Amino acid sequence: MTAKDRIDELREYLHHQNFKYYVLSQPEISDKEFDDLLKELQNLEKENPQYIDPNSPTQRVGNDIDKRFEQKEHKYAMLSLSNTYSEAEVSEFYDRTQKALEGEDFELCCELKFDGTSISLSYKDGKLVDAVTRGDGTRGDVVTDNVKTIHSIPLVLHGEGYPSEFEIRGEILMPWSVFQRLNEEKEAKEEALFANPRNAASGTLKLQNSSIVASRKLDAYLYYLIGNNLPYQSHYENLQKAETWGFKISKDMCKCHNLDEVFEYIRHWDIARKELPVATDGIVIKVNRIDQQEALGYTAKSPRWAIAYKFQAEKACTRLNEVTYQVGRTGAITPVANLDAVQLSGTVVRRASLHNEDIINGLDLHIGDMVYVEKGGEIIPKITDVNLEARDANLGLKVEFIKFCPECNTPLIRYEGEAAHYCPNDTGCPTQIKGRIIHFINRRAMNIDGLGPETVDLLFNEGLLHDPSDLYLLTKDQMVGLDRIGDKTADNILKSIENSKSVPFARVLFALGIRFVGETVAKKLASAFTTIDELARASLEELITVDEIGAKIAQSILAFFAKEDNNEIIKHLAQAGLQLQQDKDEIANRTDILSGQAIVISGVFKLHTRDEYKQMIEQNGGRNVGGISSKTYYILAGDNMGPAKLEKAQKLGVKIISEREFLDLINTK
Ligand code: IVH
Repeated sequence: MTAKDRIDELREYLHHQNFKYYVLSQPEISDKEFDDLLKELQNLEKENPQYIDPNSPTQRVGNDIDKRFEQKEHKYAMLSLSNTYSEAEVSEFYDRTQKALEGEDFELCCELKFDGTSISLSYKDGKLVDAVTRGDGTRGDVVTDNVKTIHSIPLVLHGEGYPSEFEIRGEILMPWSVFQRLNEEKEAKEEALFANPRNAASGTLKLQNSSIVASRKLDAYLYYLIGNNLPYQSHYENLQKAETWGFKISKDMCKCHNLDEVFEYIRHWDIARKELPVATDGIVIKVNRIDQQEALGYTAKSPRWAIAYKFQAEKACTRLNEVTYQVGRTGAITPVANLDAVQLSGTVVRRASLHNEDIINGLDLHIGDMVYVEKGGEIIPKITDVNLEARDANLGLKVEFIKFCPECNTPLIRYEGEAAHYCPNDTGCPTQIKGRIIHFINRRAMNIDGLGPETVDLLFNEGLLHDPSDLYLLTKDQMVGLDRIGDKTADNILKSIENSKSVPFARVLFALGIRFVGETVAKKLASAFTTIDELARASLEELITVDEIGAKIAQSILAFFAKEDNNEIIKHLAQAGLQLQQDKDEIANRTDILSGQAIVISGVFKLHTRDEYKQMIEQNGGRNVGGISSKTYYILAGDNMGPAKLEKAQKLGVKIISEREFLDLINTK
């Protein structure tokens, strides 16, 4: 068998297995077998770059290029649906439809209203061409690379009978389980949580780095097929057919023939939806026949042939007992409402976030108030209102935002233009210090896995830790004998501390916990400034020339290094032997051939991967940037560079160079 034959065979088989697993939830092979075959395909594609195909199953893993999104006009506008919360209005919709169709028989298709972010997928000759967000309804962002990471979306269709060109629309969703895990991770890193899976899905879809998108495990249900030459003259049947081409179509669609059946569907799903793995916020009722849809037509904003019935968000009324305040590692203060326990959407709620001072004042909260808590899709319940009628003569104390840090008593500050309060005592406030040490040892930072938050607390209280650099001074004698620390535990702690000394520079930078310096920014900084001293000396102007670093991040970096305490910590970390500079080999190969030039990478490459080109650009002093502008120096173009990019490049007169030309350029001085 030739390599090409094996590649084709693997692609077909993996597309099929992908469909079985992600669409039908009926895996035929183990994850391990799947991964092994995928690896084989990846290797074959690497060895035979002439066969690289943008729709290969290997392209679902995402890539690391950062790029701003192109926009694209929708061929058919993406309308919204008219909404109602009342069954009476559903009846009116039914009567209106009946009247407009002049007594003709009609079927209604009832389906779940998925609560994610909508997407329009275009297919040509059975292949995914692009994926565009709703945007303003007439044009949206092209997010194809990110959408390709969603395994339930077919890149290549199977079966037969699909039109040569069509669009299919649906909802991109983050399943509850993924959402919960993501927020737990965010909480551990003290990052802002996503309020609900909808925000998480749309936020994820707009990420610049599709390998992060791939890790987020989004899902998609498709609910609307559009185009000429569709297989059937009705919506439901078209979707059933689309399922045979590989699309994930909800199994819970149902054809109804009268209003009673519609109401039965609504009442069933108002309860049953709580068991679904994804968020829904209502049901959609659509006239099934396409000719009848056309006869009913559209208003400026929505089709007259469909209506959305939205479920009431679940609410409960309970007593506010106290407001307490939490201090994060950055000093941000979060007010928390402590409530009488109340049952809401299947869980017992005792606490709700109050976000900030403005929210508290807006509600005019008093202790003892009866408040409404709502969860509607949100994981953290929020207080939406106060029951003023329940207030009696002994109105409790008005809730006033605290003025001093609850942990260290320092007066709080509120920066202009920000809603949050901060405790500015970052070097003396125990909660902030412990928070920073816990961040430092995090798996994604220094990965000191022998230690956990409780042990950090213990060591801090024993006076052994004052800042992260004290970790490297810990001895076995100091630890053994402390609560729950035996010989073996102490050895493990010391071993993982020792191992952390080889953690690369970028992760050390992330571990320092500089405000706004997350993992991605830390990586950019580490390659732009080869040593921590260089970074510490950088000016605002120098910092903002780095890709993705804006004034806000730059200022935060300057403020960090302006503090003597931070420089002391860094000095101690250097003495302990941490990696505070980039790897020697990488530096040795550096040149400044492309010094400071902005280079865009576009298309499919034969000789190296995109990531490798990106590295080469950076190694030679250039910057890999996303969007083409008049400042772009070169476009490094592979095959199939997007037509929009090509046009823009020509218009701006940006030079396009091939792989070979680029390699020659960096190899010859
Ligand atoms: S049909 C022209 N069906 O709801 C009608 N929409 O408010 C096209 N949605 O933007 C939409 N589930 O994001 C349709 N089963 C479903 C849906 C659904 C969720 C969303 C969609 C749309 C919004 C309309």
